[in-house]
Amino acid sequence: MNICILGLGYIGLPTSLLLANAGNKVLGVDINSNIVEKLNRNELPFKEPGLDELFKKAKNNFQASSSVQSSDAYIISVPTPLESEMKMADLDAVKSASSAISKVIKEGQIVILESTVPPGTSEHLILPILREKGVKNIYYAHCPERAIPGKTLHEMIHNDRIIGGLDKESTEKVKNLYSSFVQGNIFLTDTKTAEFVKLMENTFRDINIALANEFSLLAEEAHINVWEAINLANKHPRVNILKPGPGVGGHCIAIDPMFLAEKSSKARIVTLAREINSGMPVHVVKMIHKMIKDVKNPTITLLGLAYKGNVDDIRESSTFKIKRIAENEGISVKLYDPLVQNYPENSSTLEEAIKNSDCLVLITDHDAFKEIDPKKLLMRHKNLIDARNILDHNLWKKNGYQIKVLGDGTI
Ligand SMILES: NC(=O)c1ccc[n+]([C@@H]2O[C@H](COP(=O)([O-])OP(=O)(O)OC[C@H]3O[C@@H](n4cnc5c(N)ncnc54)[C@H](O)[C@@H]3O)[C@@H](O)[C@H]2O)c1
Repeated sequence: MNICILGLGYIGLPTSLLLANAGNKVLGVDINSNIVEKLNRNELPFKEPGLDELFKKAKNNFQASSSVQSSDAYIISVPTPLESEMKMADLDAVKSASSAISKVIKEGQIVILESTVPPGTSEHLILPILREKGVKNIYYAHCPERAIPGKTLHEMIHNDRIIGGLDKESTEKVKNLYSSFVQGNIFLTDTKTAEFVKLMENTFRDINIALANEFSLLAEEAHINVWEAINLANKHPRVNILKPGPGVGGHCIAIDPMFLAEKSSKARIVTLAREINSGMPVHVVKMIHKMIKDVKNPTITLLGLAYKGNVDDIRESSTFKIKRIAENEGISVKLYDPLVQNYPENSSTLEEAIKNSDCLVLITDHDAFKEIDPKKLLMRHKNLIDARNILDHNLWKKNGYQIKVLGDGTI
C-alpha cells in the first residue's frame, strides 16, 4: 500500500517505519521542515530504543516530505494539546491535517486517526472536513495509540489495539493494514467508543497516580513512610497502589482526562485527580522551602527535565512548574538532565549545575541519577530532596547530606 502519515513525532515516525518495514511505501509528512530535512539526511529527530536500526532497515520504503500526496491510506498522528486558557482540546492540528487530506483524497481511500481526541470528534469534525471537496466513499477509523516512550516500538508491535471504524468495511480494511505489524490482539468497535476508550485508559492512570499522591501527603502528615506503607498494602492480592511523585507530565496522562471533562459536569473524580496531581509541584516547592529556610539568596538544582525516567521527552514535565514557582518565590534554579539535548537552560554537566547550589532536588527517575557519587559533589550546602525515592539515602547521609523524601513523614 501507499501510505501517507501526517505528523512525524513520537508516535507518527515509529508507526511510519514499522509500516515501511512491513513492505508498505510510506510518505511521512510534517509541517516542521527541520524534521523533514533531518530524516531525508538519514538523521532521526529524537531518540527511542530500536528506532535507529528500524530506520536503517525501512529506509528504502520511507520518504519524508512537507506535502501530502494522494495515497491508498492516510494516518493522522498530529498533536492534540490542551488549550491552556479554557482547558479544552486544541484540535487545530487535526483540522489542518484533515483539510490537507481533503484536497488530495479520492473515492475508496482510507483515513485513520491515531491522535487522541474528545469523543465525537471523528464524526462531527474530521469526517465533514474530509468530505469537503465532495468525496463520498471514504473508509475511516480511529485507531488510538497506547505506546509508552522508552518502549514505543515494542509496545506498538505487541500491545493489543482498538480499531473504531465508521462501518464494518472500514474497520476490516484498517484491521488488515495494522495486522502488517501488530502482533497483539486487535479489537473492533465504532469510532466514538474508540475515542472514549483511549481517554478512559489515561484517566484511569491519572486517578490512580492521584490516589498515590494523596496517600503521600497524608503519610507525611501522619509521620509515616508512604513507600513502606504502599509496599505493604500491595501485598493484598487485589491492591496495586501506584507510586507517588512530583506531578504528572507527558503528552497524554496530564492532558487527556480534560478531554472527557470538557463538555460534561459529571466528570468529578476526573477533575479532582487532575487537581491533586497538578498540586504536587507546589508541594515539592514547600519541601524545598523547609529544607533551605536558613539559607539567604538560595540556589537549587533540579535533577531531571524529562517528565519520566530514561526518556528525553520534556512535555508537560513538572520540573517547569517547580522551577517557575520557586523562581517566583525568590529561589534561583539550575537545571540538569543528561538525556535532554537542545534545551538552552539545561546545564551541560552536573558539576556546572551544582555550582553554589544549596539543595539538589531529584524530580525525574533517570537511572543515571542513581549513579551520582555524593562524595564527589561540591555543593554550597549539602541538602537533598528525593521526590521519587530512588536514591541510596544512607549513602547520601554518610556523606553529610540532610535528606527529605517525598511521602516519607518519618524524616
Ligand atoms: N507520545 C505518546 O506517548 C503518545 C501515546 C499515545 C497517544 N499519543 C497521541 O498521539 C498524537 C501524536 O502525539 P506525538 O507524541 O507523536 O506528538 P509529537 O508532538 O511528538 O508529534 C507530532 C508531529 O506532528 C507535526 N504536525 C503538527 N501539525 C501537523 C500537520 N497539520 N500536518 C503534518 N504534521 C503536523 C508536528 O510538527 C510534530 O512533529 C497525539 O494526539 C497524542 O496525544 C501520543
